[in-house]
Amino acid sequence: MRARKLKHRDERLLACDNIITDEFSSDPPSLVPAELFPDYSKFRLEIGCGKGGFVRGEAISHPDTAYIAVELITDVIVQAAERTPKEEYKNVVFLNTNASRLDRIFPAGSFERIHINFCDPWPKKRNAKRRLTCRTFLSLFRPLLSDGGCIAFKTDNADLFEYSLPEFEAAGYRTEKVTRDLHSSEYYGCDTETEYEKAFSEKGTPICRLEAYPSR
Ligand SMILES: C[S@@+](CC[C@H](N)C(=O)[O-])C[C@H]1O[C@@H](n2cnc3c(N)ncnc32)[C@H](O)[C@@H]1O
Repeated sequence: MRARKLKHRDERLLACDNIITDEFSSDPPSLVPAELFPDYSKFRLEIGCGKGGFVRGEAISHPDTAYIAVELITDVIVQAAERTPKEEYKNVVFLNTNASRLDRIFPAGSFERIHINFCDPWPKKRNAKRRLTCRTFLSLFRPLLSDGGCIAFKTDNADLFEYSLPEFEAAGYRTEKVTRDLHSSEYYGCDTETEYEKAFSEKGTPICRLEAYPSR
C-alpha cells in the first residue's frame, strides 16, 4: 500500500527555511559546507535522516559542529525540518536528495564524519545495490571524508551488518569499534539514539554499530 501524501506538503516545504532541495534535476547543486555555515569549521553528514531525531540530538551535544541531514523522501524531510526550527538549531540544514548524488554535490574532504543509521536493509539479493552500505555507495562516500574522518554505521539488522563488514573492506575502509550489541557495550551512549533505534531496542533487538576509516 502506498503511503498517503503529506497534507499540504508543497506549502509546508516552501515554508521551511532549513531545507535545500535539489529537485532531482539532472544537474545537482554544488554545495560547500563552509559556505552554508560560515560560523563553523567542523561538518558532519547524516544520510537517511528520517524525521531528524538523531541530527537534533547530535546538534545539541556538538554545538561546535554543523550538520547536513540528507533524506530522499520529501514528505519525510518536511516533517524533520518542521521539528528542527532554524532559530533553535542554527547548526542543522536538511538536504532533500538521493545519496547517490552526494559526490557531485559536495567537494572532496567536506566531512569529518558521515552517519548512516538504520538504512533500509533491502533483503532481496536483487536489490543489494540499493543498500547504502553496498561497496558502490561506500566508494562514492569515501572521498567526502576529511583526513581522519569516518563513517559511523548503526543497524538493528544483523544480516545487513554481516553483509556490510566485507563491503566496507572492499570499498577501502578498515572497521573499528565493531559491536553487535551496542546497548551492552562500552560504546553505548557514544551518539544519539535514533527513532528506529529506540523502537528496535525497546523490542529487545540488539543494535549493531561500527566505525569505518578509509584505509587507502
Ligand atoms: C529506515 S529509515 C531510518 C531513519 C532514521 N535514520 C532512524 O534511524 O530513525 C531509512 C531512511 O533513509 C532514507 N533513504 C533511503 N534510501 C536513501 C537514499 N538513497 N538517499 C537518501 N535517503 C535515503 C529513507 O527514505 C528513510 O527515511
